[in-house]
Amino acid sequence: MQNQIKNIGVMTSGGDAPGMNAAIRSVVRSGLNSGYGMIGIQSGYQGILDKKFIKMGLRSVANIIQRGGTMLKTARCLDFLDPNVRTLAVQNLRDKGIDALVCIGGDGSFRGLHALFIEHNFPVIGIPGTIDNDIFGTEYSIGFDTAVNTAVEAIDRIRDTATSHDRLFIVEVMGRDSGFIAMDTGIAGGAQEVFVPEHTLSVDKVIERIQASIQKGKLSSILVTAEGQKPGRAYDLAEQIRKKSNIDAKVCILGHIQRGGVPSARDRILASAFGAAAISAFDQGMSGYMVALQNSHIGYMPLADVINQKKNLEEDRFKLTQILSM
Ligand code: F6P
Repeated sequence: MQNQIKNIGVMTSGGDAPGMNAAIRSVVRSGLNSGYGMIGIQSGYQGILDKKFIKMGLRSVANIIQRGGTMLKTARCLDFLDPNVRTLAVQNLRDKGIDALVCIGGDGSFRGLHALFIEHNFPVIGIPGTIDNDIFGTEYSIGFDTAVNTAVEAIDRIRDTATSHDRLFIVEVMGRDSGFIAMDTGIAGGAQEVFVPEHTLSVDKVIERIQASIQKGKLSSILVTAEGQKPGRAYDLAEQIRKKSNIDAKVCILGHIQRGGVPSARDRILASAFGAAAISAFDQGMSGYMVALQNSHIGYMPLADVINQKKNLEEDRFKLTQILSM
């Protein structure tokens, strides 16, 4: 495929994640190193429709590895669900001389990418980039490590107040449909309980356990919850706990604080390796794959599998939080 591909487009799509800039830098520099022309697409799929294309040279990605967000900007483009819009997008790419596409994003972005591959035989490679870490086929996605570290740092601070005042706190982290951030934040932050969308946790049981730990002398606790379908779930939980037990819980919603900020070294390294692997895939004539971390090694997973399967939260981690919080 290398002979047929002259110019590769690179874009970020969906929610931004710390480390996306490191991935852009790696894709651009690895691509130039392999002899391709590199073109940045601004604001994801919307940018293809709006023809927001910029030529990327070696220096265009200088001084971005340490920055959060994405220098190419990003967007959630619902129009891309329409096959006619996708046909227009492919036309715009071909008119610009872009004959392959690297998309850094989450599973929603990969649905669009897979459609371009299947419907138009357009060469594509995906790079997993989302703080949620909920993409099937890869152990980690870019941004997760930074987001968890940000949330854990926040919990460490909240714990000072929780301990000083003998209080119960409920900390809400991101994750609409997935509890990966909540689970890892809960383990690393020493949470008493973790509420995740994948698992039903009875509030009555949680109250029983909080009361039992108060009896044992544990006068402050942190509960972590994933936001669920809309931010604010922590307030509902606090209200339920107060009504059922008269225990007052303070709420802290971390929200988009988890999405921004300086990417961790781990995210930068992962992003750098993923970027190079995306270009290497095109060198090898591969298309329709996502770059992935599998058994701690860089590999590839067909996009068809990625978008049709759900990544499961490990049940063992769930048990671990409960054992360690006794
Ligand atoms: O997918 C990443 C994520 O941060 C989710 O955890 C969160 O539910 C969602 O994006 C929020 O999206 P937005 O920034 O578009 O409101």
